[in-house]
Amino acid sequence: MLISARAFMFVAKGIKIAAMDIVHLNGQLLPADQAHISVFDRGFLFGDSIYEVIPFYQSKGFRLEEHIQRLEHSLRAIQIHTDVDWNRLLDELVAANGGGNLSVYLQVSRGASEGRSHQYDGDLTPTIFACCKPIKDIYADGPDSVQGIAAIVTADLRWHRCDIKATGLLPNILVLQQARQAGAAEAILIRDGVLTEGASSNLLWWKTVCFIHRNPVQRFLAE
Ligand SMILES: Cc1ncc(COP(=O)(O)O)c(C=O)c1O
Repeated sequence: MLISARAFMFVAKGIKIAAMDIVHLNGQLLPADQAHISVFDRGFLFGDSIYEVIPFYQSKGFRLEEHIQRLEHSLRAIQIHTDVDWNRLLDELVAANGGGNLSVYLQVSRGASEGRSHQYDGDLTPTIFACCKPIKDIYADGPDSVQGIAAIVTADLRWHRCDIKATGLLPNILVLQQARQAGAAEAILIRDGVLTEGASSNLLWWKTVCFIHRNPVQRFLAE
């Protein structure tokens, strides 16, 4: 069982905890400044870890099942095995932080080895960490109120297994900094002439498709 009582106790006692201070670490909910991991954690030493980011609007996970499936895909791809109930972990964390509109960051590392060694034993206990931050629902005032942002287009320097959401985001950090220095907010990545992704976002296109009726039996699809 996840220990949520402890986090709520701090609030009940009237001790001030800023919203978002409650994190999940290895089955416990606790104030962020009391959450500690080993310096030999492989996520810290090697980036031997994966993550997910899941927006919650009015305390409901956005495309929650798809995010959990992608998390499980990343875990399988790097052979980390856990039997965590992700839905429950996320719900308890969101509730402990007051609910509403939150972005949940969830990270699973392979765990801590004895000392630093590239190779690992299969019996390590994964480190499971999650935290939240408040987000704005940018669609709350309707799609017309959404503001655009400036972006640069730059080379995609990331590794070749971007289907695994690995925490080693140095290429993303470097290009985002490059974007910032150019007065932009995002970097759109290009590899072999193909736009792949944003440094911290997805790329989606709307293609307008309409039917033109030339006659009752003949239909053309035009873009
Ligand atoms: C590098 C990166 N790209 C894209 C995204 C957007 O992910 P999503 O498919 O959940 O919108 C994220 C957020 O997790 C990210 O960290």
